[in-house]
Amino acid sequence: MELTRDEEAMLHGKYGGAKQKAMEILLALGKIYGASRMIKVTSAQIAGVSYKTIGDAGLEYLKHMAALGGRVEIPSFLNPAGMDTEQWEELGVPEDFAKKQIEILDAYSTMGISTTCTCTPYLCGIRPAEGEHVAWSESSAVSFANSVLGARTNREGGPSALCAALCGATPLYGLHLEENRVARLIVRVEGKLENRADYGLLGLLVGREAKGRIPAFIFGENTRGAGGGCPKTEEGCGAGCPKHSISESKLKYLGAAMAASGSVPLYFVKGVTPEWRVDEGAEEIVVSQGQIMELKAKLNEADEADLITVGCPHASIEELEEIAQLLERKPVKKPFWICLGRSVKKEAQDCGIAERIERGGGKLVADTCMVVSPLEEMGFSKTAIDSGKASVYLPTMCKQKLLFGKLEEILWK
Ligand code: F3S
Repeated sequence: MELTRDEEAMLHGKYGGAKQKAMEILLALGKIYGASRMIKVTSAQIAGVSYKTIGDAGLEYLKHMAALGGRVEIPSFLNPAGMDTEQWEELGVPEDFAKKQIEILDAYSTMGISTTCTCTPYLCGIRPAEGEHVAWSESSAVSFANSVLGARTNREGGPSALCAALCGATPLYGLHLEENRVARLIVRVEGKLENRADYGLLGLLVGREAKGRIPAFIFGENTRGAGGGCPKTEEGCGAGCPKHSISESKLKYLGAAMAASGSVPLYFVKGVTPEWRVDEGAEEIVVSQGQIMELKAKLNEADEADLITVGCPHASIEELEEIAQLLERKPVKKPFWICLGRSVKKEAQDCGIAERIERGGGKLVADTCMVVSPLEEMGFSKTAIDSGKASVYLPTMCKQKLLFGKLEEILWK
């Protein structure tokens, strides 16, 4: 691989041991994937934050990199941790878990990484522009950055994202190259999908069919048009705007579920996403509403829940408003967590949405999520969710039985 003079200097230890190690790892990755050189990245999103997922070995590695003097070169931020850093005691997180979690966050912070702890950095002011190269690692964030924003990122592992953060660069391969951003699976969706849960179910189905291919969706009449050009971020921005016929919130659920069931890092939606590049020989499949409903029925193993939780991926302010309105109609009786980034929580507190949700029995849980927190140790075994992605991980990582549906179907169970 061809390295710049600065990259060579990093490799030879001129900027300290941590950057040297990081450049060695990036170089090894670049060789494996046939990269000709590095490319500068403008931000890094680093997974491997929860003590539940990285354990003591991960913690020791991070402390070691921090002790070697590792300091990041670019804006860098974290995936969800294993607990809400302000409410962990109240939520019942075991103290020894909390101690380890704080040590992990301290090690990242020492390296100059912002402890945002969210999988939706794009809702917290970090929205790369179309064509911008970044190194993100959480699978739903990668999907959103590539597909909805048109940025360029591979799905980094936690360690490789950390290396990119320390060096400000990543090997040029995979989805950083336009020739690889081509769909080879066309998905025609029959029938109208109504809510985020439906888009998550669709994502689960298509993820299983993708088998390494990038899917390109063609929905019904509602998504015809050129797309692009609308400065607003959500649907309802004006009659007939094609770009927002499917809200960002639904796209977020769609992409997250596909990433979970089929490791899909990029997809296109005709008339909606900034890119639409389809191979002439692409296979075409049809997904019907019937298939979606069949999957939904299969996911429902429990008929009541001891925890209701939404915000996978982390909730937006628009989703919080929707929840507030539902809780004003009827409060919840079971514990109800809404997982979200801390800056979105702050926004909700400032505009009064948080208070309306809390009055209706909901709890805004920041910095963490239902999957990476120790739910099973906290006494929960049956969880109600509306997220396709959470349906993949909760049974395996948290030993949960599921109740799956749209908000109105799970809130009062
Ligand atoms: Fe985010 Fe956790 Fe879901 S990281 S996408 S809320 S599993």
